[in-house]
Amino acid sequence: MKQDMILVIDLGSAENSALARAIRALGVYSEVHPGDLSAAALEALPNVKGLVFLRGEDGVAPSEALAACGLPTLDAAAVPAEDELRRFLFDECGCEANWNMDNFISDQIELMRAQIGEKRVILALSGGVDSSVVAALLIRAIGDRLTCVHVNHGLLRKGEPEQVVRVFREELGAKLIYVDAVDRFLGKLEGVSDPEQKRKIIGKEFIDVFAEEAKKLDGIEFLAQGTIYPDIVESGTKAGKAVKAHHNVGGLPKDLQFELVEPLKFLFKDEVRAVGKALGLPDSMVYRQPFPGPGLGVRCLGAITRDRLEAVRESDAILREEFAAAGLEGKVWQYFTLIPDYRSVGVKDNARCFEWPVILRAVNTVDAMTAEVAEIPWPLMKKITARILAEVKGVNRVCFDLSPKPTGTIEWE
Ligand code: XMP
Repeated sequence: MKQDMILVIDLGSAENSALARAIRALGVYSEVHPGDLSAAALEALPNVKGLVFLRGEDGVAPSEALAACGLPTLDAAAVPAEDELRRFLFDECGCEANWNMDNFISDQIELMRAQIGEKRVILALSGGVDSSVVAALLIRAIGDRLTCVHVNHGLLRKGEPEQVVRVFREELGAKLIYVDAVDRFLGKLEGVSDPEQKRKIIGKEFIDVFAEEAKKLDGIEFLAQGTIYPDIVESGTKAGKAVKAHHNVGGLPKDLQFELVEPLKFLFKDEVRAVGKALGLPDSMVYRQPFPGPGLGVRCLGAITRDRLEAVRESDAILREEFAAAGLEGKVWQYFTLIPDYRSVGVKDNARCFEWPVILRAVNTVDAMTAEVAEIPWPLMKKITARILAEVKGVNRVCFDLSPKPTGTIEWE
């Protein structure tokens, strides 16, 4: 193992992850672990050089095993001043500043090889950043003992399923099962207009398709997931408070018993992107903007129809192309189009038409809990509007959503 590690012990403080980040910013890898960590669990963690106790309001005490482990400890009242932290890390614990992406990758590969042995792993590869980075790491660690399953539910953006197949199967040589489930998903969604119902159907169908594929394969004992640290924080640590339940492929049927492989579970999003870059994934994957699990399904409002879904996909592609050409990629946090399930009267080729409006949404946010509308240059808005009206079938208006969150959520459904 190449990296030294400092444990931040979770005693109920809300600042644990900020402290772990502060330690990593000084070049030392740090993970947050529960206050009741056993001696055996502590022993199993590689290269631990010291512990930091950050007391919470409720005064939870560290376990006896932690208190008696003999490692250097820092009892911090708040996220410590940088000088104090430096002195602790480098003088008292003797750490080296050896936390970088190359060392992280080689350590994770070693850990995953030790965990998996000669066995086999399955992964649901959505094309999102997290699952893509996990796949690339596992390909390096175990090669073709990883099977990736890419489910095309018909609600992905233009070109995405093709990109997943090209990058993983052709460029990285992954064993990739591509499942064309478009008709199946759209069939189940036919006539369903309630947003929550739509989300439930998409989520359940996804698990069913994935489980069916997993059952066809013999001898798979591990399920890899792109769980990242904010997912764990949001679900609530032992001493901390839960914000919302996190679910990845959590709802798998009981007869599918897998052990989990989660190499990114201590990383923050920007670190996951840096690992993806270091592994050679394309920028369009690594810097992909956030995309909801139910995909374009929640942007084709009300009951989904194929023609309207296609118009959402085409208008979204135009929006992304024009933002990229204007240098706004990575500068605006999230931008997309959506289409409501009603039409309005317009005029095309000197004749009355009755067609859909496309609504543009572009927002900036830090944590997606609140958001403000991004200010888009007027000439760019006009260009996007002209292209959508000229190129997308069945559309006669383009509108811009000016609502911040609150009151509007970022997505409409
Ligand atoms: P809202 O609409 O709640 O969205 O303001 C906040 C952020 O979350 C994304 N989003 C989702 N992401 N699964 C996800 O992984 C989902 O079901 C989902 N729904 C919304 C949304 O795109 C925005 O970035």
